[in-house]
Parts: sequence; structure tokens; C-alpha cells
Amino acid sequence: MQNQTEQALREQKFFSDKVKAITHIYSHKPLAFVKTYGCQQNFSDSEKLRGMLSEMGYDITNKAENADVIFFNTCAIRENAESKVFGNVGALKHLKEKKPDLVIGLCGCMVQQEHAALEFKNKFPFIDIIFGTHVNHTLPELLFNKLFDNKKQFSIPAFDGGITEGLPVVRDSGFKASVSIMYGCNNFCTYCIVPYVRGRERSREANDILNEVRTLINDGYKEITLLGQNVNSYGKNTETDFPKLLSLLDNLEGEFKIEYMTSHPKDLNRDVINVISQSKNISRHLHLPVQSGSNRVLGLMNRGYTREDYIEKVEYAREKIPDISITTDIIVGFPGETYENFTETLELMREVVFDSAFTFVYSKRTGTKAAEMVDVVSGEVKSEWFKELLKVQSEIGDISYNRFVGKTLRVLCEGKGRTNKNFFTGRSNQGIIVDFPANEEFVGKFVDVNITEALSWALLGLIK
Ligand code: SAH
Ligand code: SF4
Ligand code: F3S
Repeated sequence: MQNQTEQALREQKFFSDKVKAITHIYSHKPLAFVKTYGCQQNFSDSEKLRGMLSEMGYDITNKAENADVIFFNTCAIRENAESKVFGNVGALKHLKEKKPDLVIGLCGCMVQQEHAALEFKNKFPFIDIIFGTHVNHTLPELLFNKLFDNKKQFSIPAFDGGITEGLPVVRDSGFKASVSIMYGCNNFCTYCIVPYVRGRERSREANDILNEVRTLINDGYKEITLLGQNVNSYGKNTETDFPKLLSLLDNLEGEFKIEYMTSHPKDLNRDVINVISQSKNISRHLHLPVQSGSNRVLGLMNRGYTREDYIEKVEYAREKIPDISITTDIIVGFPGETYENFTETLELMREVVFDSAFTFVYSKRTGTKAAEMVDVVSGEVKSEWFKELLKVQSEIGDISYNRFVGKTLRVLCEGKGRTNKNFFTGRSNQGIIVDFPANEEFVGKFVDVNITEALSWALLGLIK
């Protein structure tokens, strides 16, 4: 069953009304606080959690201490993401002591792992609700059960593989929106927890996506980011694959740009690049995580491509879309990686010249294949390698951004900048941060900016 919408929505609305009836008798308008950890997929899920909470009669607050219900939407990608959640949940204890009626809930990827959910249950008895990633749409039911029966709720079913369309959404921004086009992942990269906590890959119907994006454009949204762990395998074996979806979206009426992430190098094909090269509204930005420059390590990671395949795809993209920016993710210190393997990653970085790179020290995830592999390199040595990687990337950043000086880039102005108080900031069609003198009137609008200077992390310019 791909689309579980009808039944799920009916139940969601039924319980939503029941919670509303309970919260109506409060002497004040109840407040909900949702904190998000992790990637854009989690941020997008939180927008739906806020949508449901608001439908249940809650106002959304950004102050945990004022809230009547608090939800933490958690991430499990690396150990430090999990430690952050543990620390912050622990700190909620004093709020609960001051306000015994406060409802505290945990959801997201971390608690989809049974061992983590049980640890929370045992260590923090003040948590009222824990639910996994597959049942976000049941939030109203869980909250109702807690409020009505005052019983703790614990719901972490095994994967159901479904998609619930039509949940209410409270969006974080009035001009930037993200739209999930698929959920889950089938790739099982050996270091990665995502397939275990998000389930098997499933794609939304193209029509549902087109309708959502069309509505967003009509509502004035200017940047729409298509989300999926591996967008290139969207709609596999259907008529509307990813290149077709991009071209349908590109042809919608209005002033907007489409971002998309994440592309997997093994599935990125020439059709996608060709569609982007011909498009008006698709971003000239390819986030293409390479993870390692060593074929041996790529094999151990189960990535499904070689260094040579990767470089060939980058070259094709640059040939077809000369102004494209290419960004990446890299993992340092994968089990069994030698210093020689690591230097192959440094060489690849020098060869490809990424516009930016998100770099991570390998973090062991219980339940993944890599967690069983022999890992002899010490943490200290890995952090030395990591420093070396950062140094190489910062040298490269300076080179790569220089190519934009003297050019005019189309930028979506997002708000006040960091470089100077009269500067505003936004992202170019290449996804690069651009700062320029402007004022509030430009926020949420596209501007053409003449680039005058390249910093290692941003471009500076003047509106044309
Ligand atoms: N689906 C995307 C990325 C998902 S996670 C993809 O396939 O590229 C985002 C990044 O976190 C990954 O690209 C990887 O670089 C990093 N990552 C994932 N698991 C990790 C782990 N166990 N340790 C360190 N970094 C990890
Ligand atoms: Fe994780 Fe690999 Fe799937 Fe990305 S493609 S989410 S890194 S398993
Ligand atoms: Fe995202 Fe973290 Fe889950 S990166 S998919 S929120 S494990």
C-alpha cells in the first residue's frame, strides 16, 4: 500500500477535533513548541507536526518554557546528533517539575531505533509520548490518549512504507518551502542509519507533487526544495522519473526556482543534467556526496560507484552547465581506511574543486554493517586527518568562488546578512551565499547582483 491517505487523514482529523475540544476548556490558548534536529527531511516533518498541532487548537511558540506541549523531532545520523538530544531532553526535567501538566514528546529518527527509545523511556520517566517516523500522522491520536487518559504513549511500529498526503502544514518561511518527493532509502550505505529509521524508498505521485508546488508558487513561494535521500531514483519504474518530474515542474507558470537534494552519484544520469541545462527555473546546483576518493573505501561503503565514475559525471555536468556549482559530503576515518586511502580523498578534492564540502568524522551507528567492521585508527588520528581535509577545502573554496567575480548572479534575498549591518544575504541560482547592500523591501524577492568579491564561504556584490 503506497498511499495510506484516506484512512489516515480521517483518523487524524477525528482525533484532532477531540484534542481541540479538550484544549478549549483551558483558561488560556494552549502553546506548542517543536524543536527539530537533523536534516531538511526532519525540518519538513516538523512543519507538518506544527500544522497538526495548530489544527488541534495550539498556537506555535518558539519558547519551550512557555509551552503546554513540547516535541523534540530527533536525528540519529551521528553520535553527536544523538548526544545533543539526550542533553536537551535531560534539561526539560526542571520545566516538568515547575509545570506538571506539561506534555513532553519525542519523535523522529533517533527514537525509531528501539534501543534509543527504550533508553529514553528508562532514563527520563517524565517523557509522555514517544513515536517513530512512520506514524507522525498519528500525533493527534497519541496526544488525545495522553490528555484524556493521562497514560504514556509509546508507538514505534515496524515500517509500513506508506505515504500520507494532505496533512496540514505550518511553514517556517513565507518564500522558501521544501517538498518531499520521496521517503526512505534502499541504498544501505554501510555506515548509514537512514534506511533503518526511515524505511524503504517510496515516491509520491507526480500529480500530488505538481499540485503542491503549483499552490506554493501561487502563494508567493520563490524557492522550492525537492527532498529525497536519493532524488535520482524518484519514480523508478514509473512514467514520471526524476528528469521528467524536473521538466514538468520547470514548466509551471510563475517566478520561482527549484532546488533538489540529495543526488546519489550512482543514480545521477545524463538525462537529469540535460533537463537542468535546458531549464529556466531549476537551480544550477548539484549536491553530489562523494564520501571518499578511494575506490577501496567506496567499495567498503557500498556506494555503488568508483572515483572515476564520479569524476566523469562531474565533468559531464560542467560541460553541459558551465555555471553549475557542485557541493559534496565527505566522511573521514571510515573503518579500515588507511592514510593512503584518505590522501586519495584529498587528491579528488583538488581535482574536482568543490564549491563547498560538508565534512564528517565517521560515527559508528549500531545496527549498520560498518559497525561490525574492524576500526583500528584512533579518534585522535582521525581528527588530525579531519583538520587536514578542512585545510584543503578552505584553499579550494577560495579558488572556486573567484570564478564568479565580475559576473551577474540571480539571488533570492533571504534577510539580513552577517558581514555588515547594511548587508542583506541570499542564495544565488548556484546555491551560493551572496551578501549585498539592500533593505527589507528586497526580502523574499529575486535580485540580479554584480559580484565584486569572493570570500571563502560567500560572494559579495551590488544589486544591478
Ligand atoms: N542521502 C544522502 C545523505 C544522507 S546523510 C546521501 O546519500 O548522500 C548526510 C551525510 O551524513 C551523508 O552524506 C554522509 O556524509 C554523512 N553521514 C551519514 N552517516 C554517517 C556516519 N555514520 N558517520 C559520519 N557521517 C555520516
Ligand atoms: Fe544513507 Fe546512503 Fe541512503 Fe544516503 S543513500 S541516506 S548515505 S544509505
Ligand atoms: Fe535526517 Fe537525521 Fe533522520 S539526517 S533522515 S533526521 S537520521
